[in-house]
Amino acid sequence: MSGDERLMEIWRRSVEALRGVVTEMKITEDELHLAGHYFNRLGQSGMCPSLLDVAFAMTSIDATRKDVGGTRPNLEGPYYMSKAPLRADGTLFDRPPAPDAPIVTLTGRVVDVETGVGIPGAEVDVWHADHNGIYDRNGFYLRGRVRTDAEGRYTLRTIVPNDYSEHDHDPIGELFRAMGQSNTRAAHIHIKVHVDGTEQLMTQLFIPLSQVLDTDYVVGAVTDDLVLALKPAPAVAGQGPQYAATFDFRIKRQRAAQAAA
Ligand code: BEZ
Ligand code: FE
Repeated sequence: MSGDERLMEIWRRSVEALRGVVTEMKITEDELHLAGHYFNRLGQSGMCPSLLDVAFAMTSIDATRKDVGGTRPNLEGPYYMSKAPLRADGTLFDRPPAPDAPIVTLTGRVVDVETGVGIPGAEVDVWHADHNGIYDRNGFYLRGRVRTDAEGRYTLRTIVPNDYSEHDHDPIGELFRAMGQSNTRAAHIHIKVHVDGTEQLMTQLFIPLSQVLDTDYVVGAVTDDLVLALKPAPAVAGQGPQYAATFDFRIKRQRAAQAAA
């Protein structure tokens, strides 16, 4: 199917699906115009891509994934920064964390899903919010890359992120408030895994301490397989509660050309 035919088919099916909603919900012309004005505001705020992400990114990711049996991928979100520093000892905080910030040591392996063998030299690129749900948007605090060892093992030490509320001051928040729905993201750690310079996996690991795992506003993002099992770990002087968790990233290795397709 050529690009134009595909576009035509997507339009045709979308209109058909939404006609069903208009019919069943008996949506009035006034309500349609209200929605139109809302989309105008959404466009002016630059938030159209985010709303599509919230509603459909996970459906798209699940529908198009090629790594059957591998770790479930997840969306990138708006806060990735490339070229995060390599963290030789795996610690992502380069200044002392707040004394009440919970800390987790996350260990595991990057393994080939077909052979179960660990992949040495894989790069695990990590970014996430802090214990107050805030991302460093200017620097690389709680951002960094680590490499796997000869057995494919990695170690990360970082603050346990918290839930964060998004879009409080833009039309996405307006929509969620109008629906009486939470616009809070469940606490998560973002990960990309590169092997030989090719991105093999992008996902999110969720924190079981989150209050909103069941109501994360990104539709379909949280699944049990991506929720970390946090275990209490021995205290460290001057630091908050300590936890340990393990997670193996199972990847189906793709060559650069396959990954781009
Ligand atoms: C995130 O993963 O951080 C995110 C995803 C969608 C909307 C907002 C944030
Ligand atoms: Fe995020």
